[in-house]
Amino acid sequence: MGAVGLAIALAGCKTLPPPLPPSQWTPQERRGAAVFEADCARCHYPTSTRSLHGPGLQALTKLKAMPSGAPPTDERLADRIVHGYGMMPGTEMTDSQLQDLLAYLRTL
Ligand code: HEC
Repeated sequence: MGAVGLAIALAGCKTLPPPLPPSQWTPQERRGAAVFEADCARCHYPTSTRSLHGPGLQALTKLKAMPSGAPPTDERLADRIVHGYGMMPGTEMTDSQLQDLLAYLRTL
């Protein structure tokens, strides 16, 4: 459907690579998106760099560094997600949910 055209009208962030359109997600990425929706979306915009409660996560894993300056490796991300970081609370999830979520984060 027309999902590919999802308005990436992000003034000021035009140099960031666009997220993978949902129509191209693998089943794992799709499951990860559901985890994100349940556990992260209330505090983060996934496809924008605008802050909600935490920083926008567009292109998170394609950049050299996360807002904190740390590289966006799976290990580092998993640690932030499970244990929290600064003002961000940790989220309990199973290892397969975590793997799905990491796969999804790489599409952003
Ligand atoms: C209650 C709100 C809240 C929830 C829920 C939340 N975050 Fe955060 N997140 C934050 C805040 C606030 C920060 C900034 C933390 C700081 O710098 O002190 C942050 C920072 C981050 C960062 C940047 C880390 C860095 O090193 O710069 C990532 C990545 C992130 N969150 C991902 C996630 C993911 C994935 C989830 C879902 C499992 C999630 N967050 C859930 C509030 C939240």
